[in-house]
Amino acid sequence: MEELVWLNGTLCPKKEAKISIDDRGFLFGDGVFETMRSYGSRVFRLDKHLTRLFDSLAIVHLSIPYTSVELGKAVNDTLEANQLQEAYIRLTVTRGRGGIGIDLPEKPSPTIIIVARKFIPYPEQVYREGLKTGISGIKQNLSSSIARIKSLNFLDHILARIEARERGLDEAILLNTEGFVCEGAVSNIFIVRQGSLITPDRESGILPGVTREVIIELALREGIRIEERKVKPSELKEADECFLTNTLMEIMPVSEIDGVKIGTEKPGSLTLTFAEWYKDLVRKEVKIGR
Ligand SMILES: Cc1ncc(COP(=O)(O)O)c(C=O)c1O
Repeated sequence: MEELVWLNGTLCPKKEAKISIDDRGFLFGDGVFETMRSYGSRVFRLDKHLTRLFDSLAIVHLSIPYTSVELGKAVNDTLEANQLQEAYIRLTVTRGRGGIGIDLPEKPSPTIIIVARKFIPYPEQVYREGLKTGISGIKQNLSSSIARIKSLNFLDHILARIEARERGLDEAILLNTEGFVCEGAVSNIFIVRQGSLITPDRESGILPGVTREVIIELALREGIRIEERKVKPSELKEADECFLTNTLMEIMPVSEIDGVKIGTEKPGSLTLTFAEWYKDLVRKEVKIGR
């Protein structure tokens, strides 16, 4: 079946979906995006992704001619048009076409693209073995206005991933410019210490992950102590357990940080419990929403 993409209000075959070579998303990374996941044709926490999208748009002073409800419908229409159940969905907004310089065009006309593709799960083995990670030399700049949003300027995180791969690792962990732990290249990070869950707070320069928020909700529901605070890099290596979260991989155990093995079990028991709670919650929410 031919892939259909949503481009500025119209669903069209992928090969007909064209954007200009003058598009500022392409020229300057001038835009923001969201990555979502659907389960049985329903996007998990669509409202949260759209809220974050609109928050990001406000931070970069980009207004679009759609409401959150309209964009939500567009996401669902794209899923339906492609007859997808388990899908990866990417929504990209750029400031649209501009001139040669960085000054804004008089009347910006944003480019909005929604792509939905069949979700390819990570191999089971990765969840059993956990990821080998290392602390990156690249730091999250706390004074940057784009530190906490999903902007199209993703180069720092891409470079951190390249550096990790060159070191034979699966994933990079970024510190911030104050030297505290921030996040993974495409994920938020949690550690477990003496039965408590610890994760960098928002002031640490993290992207406020939708999955991270679910983990915090689950911890509160289950009466597990959760600390959102500054985390020292040394705490990572002393952790009993460590895991990463994002929309696509959900909860991914970390087995190693800079060659230091994390905990004694592989993966840790609380990590596995949270992974189960997360799956249960997703199942319930997508059923109720039907
Ligand atoms: C830098 C960064 N941090 C955190 C996350 C996790 O966010 P979410 O749980 O909303 O997918 C992502 C997701 O891609 C990310 O790119």
